[in-house]
Parts: sequence; structure tokens; C-alpha cells
Amino acid sequence: MKVAVFGAGYVGLSTAVVLAKKHSVTLIEIDETKIDLINNGTSPIAEKGLEPLLRDALERNSIKAVGLDEPLGSQDAVLICVNTPSGDDGSVNLEAVESVMSSIESRIDSLLDEYLLVAMRSTVPPGTTRFTVIERLSKNADTKKLGFIFQPEFLRQGFAIHDLLNPDRVIIGASDDDAYSKYEELTIQCLDKQDTKVLKMSIESAEMCKYASNSFLATKISFISELSSLAERIPHVNIDDVVLGMIQDHRISPSHLKPGLGYGGSCLPKDVSGLFTFGASKGVEMPLLKAVHFVNKQTTDRLLRLVDSLSLRGKKVAILGVAFKADTDDTRDSPSLPLIRRLSAEGAKVHAHDPLVNLEQTKNQLGLDFEIVYDISECTRDAFVTFIMTDWSVYKELGLNSIASNMSQKLVVDGRRMFVDIDVPDGIVYLPLGSYPEQRVIS
Ligand SMILES: NC(=O)c1ccc[n+]([C@@H]2O[C@H](COP(=O)([O-])OP(=O)(O)OC[C@H]3O[C@@H](n4cnc5c(N)ncnc54)[C@H](O)[C@@H]3O)[C@@H](O)[C@H]2O)c1
Repeated sequence: MKVAVFGAGYVGLSTAVVLAKKHSVTLIEIDETKIDLINNGTSPIAEKGLEPLLRDALERNSIKAVGLDEPLGSQDAVLICVNTPSGDDGSVNLEAVESVMSSIESRIDSLLDEYLLVAMRSTVPPGTTRFTVIERLSKNADTKKLGFIFQPEFLRQGFAIHDLLNPDRVIIGASDDDAYSKYEELTIQCLDKQDTKVLKMSIESAEMCKYASNSFLATKISFISELSSLAERIPHVNIDDVVLGMIQDHRISPSHLKPGLGYGGSCLPKDVSGLFTFGASKGVEMPLLKAVHFVNKQTTDRLLRLVDSLSLRGKKVAILGVAFKADTDDTRDSPSLPLIRRLSAEGAKVHAHDPLVNLEQTKNQLGLDFEIVYDISECTRDAFVTFIMTDWSVYKELGLNSIASNMSQKLVVDGRRMFVDIDVPDGIVYLPLGSYPEQRVIS
């Protein structure tokens, strides 16, 4: 089949290389740099296993990336995988989706031959696909020749290819049976996990399912963050033991109950605020989700509270990790960003390290004030305090002793609780987020 995929980001590019195993895929992207990289066999994003699939597809002429103005010719399916970030008020910004729709509308005659499936893969509020895609295209083309799908994507960044090939479930919201079976035929044959559970539902239910899943995961994370915040005030409470006790109950799944820095990244923060803002637009206040969001915003305060007797003005502070989690180069809504902002506003000399993130780009795009350091020991050298912010295995493997060895004050605040199970070597003050500070910071 011939498939056009709009948007070559984490979802679009990963989906494209998976579909290119069986189909002929054209990626349409507005970023020229990404187009060049992709056509030269280099992935613009860090995703395990993506580049070999891309190179293989390029060799077989099964994939190419083009700009918006390039003629596409007729297609069997069009997938919309563009970004849907938060607007200033927390609502979902649909500008990129609207722009793709204008592009599809203006070329619908050339795209549509016998039958065209239009599938929305971007996360959008319930009702969006019907109003922005189905109603718009139905005005311009023979509806009998069009099928519409919303398929939510549940991949985890860093494991995108694995998750696309082996999904827990595939949810297909379809306009009709024909669209459903054609889309199933397009996608399921590309999976490694052939016995994947496929659920068919209405387009609106599928749209809501994505928000429901992400909001539920975020709720679990904020729940454990709130309890961890309490545990930080009570001597002898071990939050990991509390979780261990909870998860013996077969009704409580352990996932997303790890105490830490809360949630970040390109999905959970915007999907939580997108859902309660959407709820408000329908006259439904969603106090639970607002609280989830509020709790998550307190992380920086909690980190700084652990060292709040100290003045960091003029002192070197090391940040280990800027990615929002390990195994990705994505810094969107990373907890490191507000911490860096706060520390530099307070006059600290911030130095940051990350093994994968393009720190030059992050610093310039976000206007952050910090020194970029490529070597971990250079980052911590003479630092007054080190904040461990991303759960990279290189930090864990290095160990607390080595991390602290060349610091001026051996004070380590660990947002990821990497070393809670070891005996803290003498001379190091180790403050894991979520624990009562057994060791006191001396101002
Ligand atoms: N990243 C994830 O882990 C993830 C997981 C599940 C769902 N999603 C959802 O998938 C969607 C895409 O997310 P992402 O992380 O891949 O975003 P992304 O920002 O990585 O990629 C989006 C791409 O679309 C391109 N683009 C923007 N406007 C365009 C246009 N008019 N025409 C062509 N290309 C255009 C951008 O340049 C960018 O390369 C979002 O709705 C997101 O919520 C993301």
C-alpha cells in the first residue's frame, strides 16, 4: 500500500519505518534538517533500533522524506502524526493538525484514487477527528471513497520501535467497518506480536482512551509524589517499603508508583492539562486531574527544600541529566529545566551534563543559563551540590562515591533515588527525594 505520514517526530518517524517493512511510505515534514537527515539514513531522534530500520527501508526504496509542497500522487492511506502541544492556557494546540488538514484538503483530488483512509495518530480531544478531519474532507470528496480512523499511540520514548512492533493493545476508532478492516490490514501485518489484542470502538472513545490512559498513569505518579513529600517529613518512613507493602495487593499494579521527580516529557504533562481544560470547555470541572497537575509542579520546590538552609549564590551546582527520563534525548517538560531556571535565578553557577541530549540546542532554544559539560567528573568538579535528575545508567554505574569524589562539599541530592540501597560513604551527605533527610545540611 502507499502511505503518506505527516510529521517525522517520535511517533511519525517511528511509525513510518515500521510501516515501511511492508508498504511504500512518504514522510511529509516541515523541518528541512530532519528531511535531509532521514533521506541520508540518519535518525534525527534518539530511538533504539530506528536507524537500522530506516536504512533498510531506504535501501529498498520503501521510504522517503519530502517537504510540504512536494507532489504526493495518489495514496491508500494518510496518517497524521504531528505535534499537539499545550497552548498557554493548557488547552490542546491544534495548529499543526489544522495545517496538515489544509494541505490534505488542497490536494485531495490527487491523493484520492479508489479509496483513501485518513488516520489521526496525534493525541487530540474527543470530537476533534470528527470536526477537523471528517467534516472538512467530506465537504470536498466523495465520502464513499473515504474512511476515517483515530488510533491512539501508546509508545514509550526510548522504546518506540519495540512498542510499535509489540504493543500491549491496538485501539482502532473507525468511521465504519470498511475503514476498520482496511486499516487493520494496513497496520497489523507490520507488527512482530501477531497475537496483539485489537479493540474496535468509536472514534471518540478511541480519542478519549488515550487521555484516560495517560491521565491515569499521571495520577499514580502524583499520588506517590504526594506520599513521598509526606515521607520527607517523617523520620523512619521508608517510602520504598510503603510501595512494596501496597503492591502485594493484587489490585494495585506496581507500575508508575516509583517515588521520584514526577512526570515529564512530551505527553503526560500536556495530556493531563489538555484533558481538564477540555473538560472545563464542556462544563465539567476535573478537580482530581488539576490536583495531579499541581502536585507534579511542586517537584522543584521539594528538591530545593532539601537544601533550603544553604545559599547557593555564587556556588557551583552540578546537574546530572537533562533528558526527562533515561534512554531519550527529549527534554520537553523535563524536571531539570525549572530547576536550572530557579538555580540560575538564585545566582548559582549551574553546570549540566547529559549523555544524549543536545545541550547546546536546549540551552539556546529555551534561553537557559548554564555551562555545558560533556564529562561527568568535569561537571561535578568543585561543585557545592550535585542534583541527579535523570536515571541514566552511566550515573548509577559510576556510583555515589565517584560522583561525589571531586566535589567541594560532598552534597548529593538524588531526584531518582539511585543510591538509596547502599551504605553512604563517610563524608558524603546524600539526600534522596522522598526520604526524611537523615543527614542534615549544615548552612
Ligand atoms: N512522543 C511520544 O512519546 C508520544 C506517544 C504517544 C502519542 N504521542 C502524540 O503523537 C503526536 C506527535 O508527537 P511527537 O512526540 O511525535 O511530536 P514531535 O514534535 O516529535 O513531532 C512532530 C513532527 O511534526 C512536524 N510537523 C509539524 N507541523 C507539520 C506540518 N504541518 N506538516 C508536516 N509536519 C509537521 C514537526 O516538525 C515534527 O517533526 C502528539 O499528538 C503526541 O501527543 C506522542
